[in-house]
Amino acid sequence: MKLKNDPVKFLIVDDKEENLVALEALLRRDGLQILRARSGDEALELLLVHDVALALLDVHMPDMDGFALAELMRGAQRSRHVPIIFVTAAPQEQHREFRGYDAGAVDFLFKPVDPRILRHKTETFYQLQRQKLQLEETLHLAETLMAAVGHDLKTPLNAVMLGAELILADPTSESNRRTAERLKSSSRRMQRMIDDLFDLARARLAGGIPIAPAAADLVKVARRSIAELEAATPALSITLVEQGSATGEWDADRLYQVTSNLLANAARHGATGRPITVKLAGTDDAVTLSVHNEGVIADDVREHLFDPFRSSARTTRARDEGLGLGLYIVQQIVLAHGGTLEVDSDEETGTTFRVSLPRRPAPGAS
Ligand SMILES: Nc1ncnc2c1ncn2[C@@H]1O[C@H](COP(=O)(O)OP(=O)(O)OP(=O)(O)O)[C@@H](O)[C@H]1O
Ligand SMILES: [Mg+2]
Repeated sequence: MKLKNDPVKFLIVDDKEENLVALEALLRRDGLQILRARSGDEALELLLVHDVALALLDVHMPDMDGFALAELMRGAQRSRHVPIIFVTAAPQEQHREFRGYDAGAVDFLFKPVDPRILRHKTETFYQLQRQKLQLEETLHLAETLMAAVGHDLKTPLNAVMLGAELILADPTSESNRRTAERLKSSSRRMQRMIDDLFDLARARLAGGIPIAPAAADLVKVARRSIAELEAATPALSITLVEQGSATGEWDADRLYQVTSNLLANAARHGATGRPITVKLAGTDDAVTLSVHNEGVIADDVREHLFDPFRSSARTTRARDEGLGLGLYIVQQIVLAHGGTLEVDSDEETGTTFRVSLPRRPAPGAS
């Protein structure tokens, strides 16, 4: 792991020791490590082990000149995008054909090197690398934080939930019972938020939500979500319509997250007390799940509907509202299955979320 105070590294290549010494003296500053190479071969070796922010290459060198070295650098994955400054005595050399311009920044410096111009040309690369190192550290911190949230917070939370269950099994008074119910539902909500944050971290930092496809029936998955929502909110009216078979090779637990999130949204954000319809329609090679409710999605929400956190206006959020991660996670799970997610929302027809899943994941899909 790179630390914020890791040095930024510049590589300087010149066959003459005195030139290296002079260049190093001009570049020296806190937080910068200078790697020196006396030949192209030495430079390539250093590039194999160091993450270099900038390479200053002397053009005139025996064996391998600066342009040849640059071309080899551009040909290797590791050094392909390293910015290069050619140091040359002859301005006309700038016109020599060099085929690596597209891969990364290229600039020229003329001897004798003017310290101010040198500083000016190298400063941006120094700052960019600093920022990159800081970002890497922040990312690592975020990963560590999420692992802590995922694992360490769950244990005490489980204890709270268990305590609430125990009180509920034998409440000593009506007010005790109500308190325990509140404890239970608050802990459930907290657990769901932790799970969602963990999924967000996985989707963002690990390159996608992992799925484990196996034979599954979307009807069963949808029924489970409906039953759970109805148990929590008995006043809801939810209808399930089935057309054709809804079986396929999917990750049933992940699809349960999809149906539960879409249904919870319909119940929470749809028109209060109005019916919700879930439809499952199977064709030869795909199954479509749609969840419909009355009520419309506001235009400003619509714009960022699938963006994490941004979808629910945080400033105006009511106390019991979610993090705004639900639809982002739904979309990630659907994409991991090679499916599509669409939404229609208008005043007259209400809001419909439509998930279409191929019965089998495409070859090569995760
Ligand atoms: N079925 C729906 N009908 C109307 N509005 C909806 C519907 N589904 C989502 N929305 C709107 O889209 C926003 C984003 O939904 P999303 O599920 O991503 O977040 P959330 O429900 O606010 O929080 P979380 O799902 O993390 O608990 C909601 O806050 C709501 O404004
Ligand atoms: Mg939601």
